[in-house]
Amino acid sequence: MIPSILPTYNRAPLSFVKGEGAWLIEADGQRFLDLGAGIAVNAMGHAHPALVAALTEQAGKLWHTSNLYQIPAQQELADRLVEATFADTVFFTNSGTESCELAVKMARKFFHDAGQPERTDIIAFEGAFHGRSSAGIAAAGSEKMTKGFGPLLPGFKHVPWGDHDAFHAAIDDNTAAILIEPVQGEGGIRPLPDQCLRGLRDLCDERGILLILDEVQCGVGRTGRLFAHEWAGVTPDIMMVAKGIGGGFPLGAVLATERAATGMGAGTHGSTYGGNPLGCAVGCAVMEHVATPEFLAEVNRKAGLMRQRLEGLVAAHPDIFTGVRGLGLMLGLKCKTTNTDVVKAGYDALVATVPAADNVIRLLPPLTITDAEIAEAVTRLDAAATALETA
Ligand SMILES: Cc1ncc(COP(=O)(O)O)c(C=O)c1O
Repeated sequence: MIPSILPTYNRAPLSFVKGEGAWLIEADGQRFLDLGAGIAVNAMGHAHPALVAALTEQAGKLWHTSNLYQIPAQQELADRLVEATFADTVFFTNSGTESCELAVKMARKFFHDAGQPERTDIIAFEGAFHGRSSAGIAAAGSEKMTKGFGPLLPGFKHVPWGDHDAFHAAIDDNTAAILIEPVQGEGGIRPLPDQCLRGLRDLCDERGILLILDEVQCGVGRTGRLFAHEWAGVTPDIMMVAKGIGGGFPLGAVLATERAATGMGAGTHGSTYGGNPLGCAVGCAVMEHVATPEFLAEVNRKAGLMRQRLEGLVAAHPDIFTGVRGLGLMLGLKCKTTNTDVVKAGYDALVATVPAADNVIRLLPPLTITDAEIAEAVTRLDAAATALETA
């Protein structure tokens, strides 16, 4: 008999009833260190007082009105994002997938309005993840995500990850945009080298196409800059955001330059909930904390500490791990044993991690994790690895 929850997830037998900072707590009081943060969502940790205050204050005033009216919190969040980034304009969504949908529509509309309606194709990397909608799975392209769900949305091409020459070769008169994650998340924590991102920006400029960045997982302070592309010193035309921006409240956004967004006038796109007062009140509180040099400097310092300790862990367990990779607090441990076994052993040692492709486990702690918690997390991972070795 089918369970009452559609069984699309292989869920762990864990159930948390409370969160405190970097900790998740079960009903019996058992405390887990959370190195998953809801898959890079709880940037400020669980139940951060400033986020709880922002949400409850807004909840006591007004939950929802729709985008038929002005929404002060939405205006404030849009202004904050525009001030802090390359973007001139923002559309709010409820998820990364919805941000993908608009990014694709916006790129196609741009060329339609520019008198080049044949330019509809989007080129993406193999191993990418952009969400589970029809556009999202077509953009990812992998059989794992698309099999059985055809016909797929047409107009997507894929090239091997990091292969600049393949991008060159794939661009033709029908190309509208390149769509990439600066750091692949689901694909196994693979940061694109800065020179590669710069090269793709140049390529887009040379060939007159748009650069769309998917910063759903790597954005909002995760890599130690507000957005990961800042490390390379280039900017996109369109950027997808979600996860961390809502700190746990479902919120996403598409950020764009004025030029890329020219065709998106009244009636071209919409969302009942996107940018609603609750989500935007929380988003403003997240931005107030994360988008400061002090907070980002701390992310970088803690990232250095965590990486150093993880290198020690890998060296101590060569039969379990083969290396550390990633950027900032978006880290991956490449496993020698099966990654899901390592995740399970972590649960036994009361530390939560997230599996990814390429036999990697992801470590995406709340950006507010403390030095002592980092030390404790690595101690628990060490216990998990030791348990696997002796099993
Ligand atoms: C890079 C990237 N893009 C898009 C998505 C889809 O976001 P959502 O699950 O919020 O729809 C994800 C989710 O993991 C992601 O990591």
